[in-house]
Amino acid sequence: MKGLQLLATGGALPGRVVTNEDLRRQVDTSDEWITTRTGICQRYYCTENEDAATLAITAARQALTRSGLAANDIACCVVATLSSPTATPSIACRVQAALGLPEDRPAFDVNAACSGFIYAAAAAHGLLSTLGGRYALVIGCEALSRMVDPTDRTTCVLFGDGAGAAVFELAENAPFAVTLGARGSEAIRAGGPAACDTAPITMDGRAVFRFAVEAMPRCLQAVLDRSQKTLSDLDWVVCHQANSRIIDHCVKSLHAEPSKFYKNISRHGNTSAASIPIALHEMAESDLLRPGQTLACIGFGGGLTWGGILLTY
Ligand code: ACO
Repeated sequence: MKGLQLLATGGALPGRVVTNEDLRRQVDTSDEWITTRTGICQRYYCTENEDAATLAITAARQALTRSGLAANDIACCVVATLSSPTATPSIACRVQAALGLPEDRPAFDVNAACSGFIYAAAAAHGLLSTLGGRYALVIGCEALSRMVDPTDRTTCVLFGDGAGAAVFELAENAPFAVTLGARGSEAIRAGGPAACDTAPITMDGRAVFRFAVEAMPRCLQAVLDRSQKTLSDLDWVVCHQANSRIIDHCVKSLHAEPSKFYKNISRHGNTSAASIPIALHEMAESDLLRPGQTLACIGFGGGLTWGGILLTY
């Protein structure tokens, strides 16, 4: 089986920075509570003219430019989001139009909450393998600030907005493995509104935390088993950034090297489907990613859902 090689990335952060201090003036919370319980110091919120689609288009355009490819080279466009401003057209169709991607190729959105980018990358791998074509554009984008109740301290401190984009090549000699799963019977533990609804995101934080610390190491181990690799073969593990303590639990339970686990939650909060591609973009931009490196991306989220994927750079 061919694997996915990450060729180029793009990113977009909205214009408003919201610090813990800003939130302290809004709800009964403190910088100390938020940083010690979550590791979050600030997050970005969309301004009036920004939404998940505008961020996706900016990130996608940057990734395509950095890849050096033409729009016509992109065989599919898959977007992971739970906060599309419209149910239809999908954000993927809006990206297709904005970037002038060819019309005879698939473009669609995937909603698997915070696991969305893994699901989207897996879908792109499947499409390239079955429909043909060499390059896929995969995006994770969110405007969660539009979906939280600003008076609910249990959720409003956690979430942020942003987008990350990746151009993948279906590569001959790249190792590949993927694991995906869902447990709809526990949907109540983390839920959100429909795009057109006004009900805010709700969550049983403690239950999601317990689920996450079990699911993350399990997903990573499944990816390693399926690719017949060990942790020492990986250069990076890029986890969904929901809570710094969840990543620390994962490191501990696998007896792993903490420096292999990229963290940027302090600056972004939980950006759901956008968190992994934003992390990949930051890593590429700061030269942490080097050609030939092997990465595992691991996510969990509402649904409940989870997933892991092995990639090369
Ligand atoms: N500021 C101050 N106090 C707070 C705040 C806040 N922002 N939020 C909650 N508290 C209080 C609670 O009311 C509680 O008070 P009590 O003991 O008097 O009842 C106390 O702090 C402890 O609350 P817990 O919920 O037990 O705190 P915990 O240590 O579990 O941290 C958190 C909460 C950060 C939400 C954690 O459980 C977590 O990260 N869970 C995972 C969330 C997640 O990953 N979500 C992603 C999926 S969601 C989706 O996909 C839509």
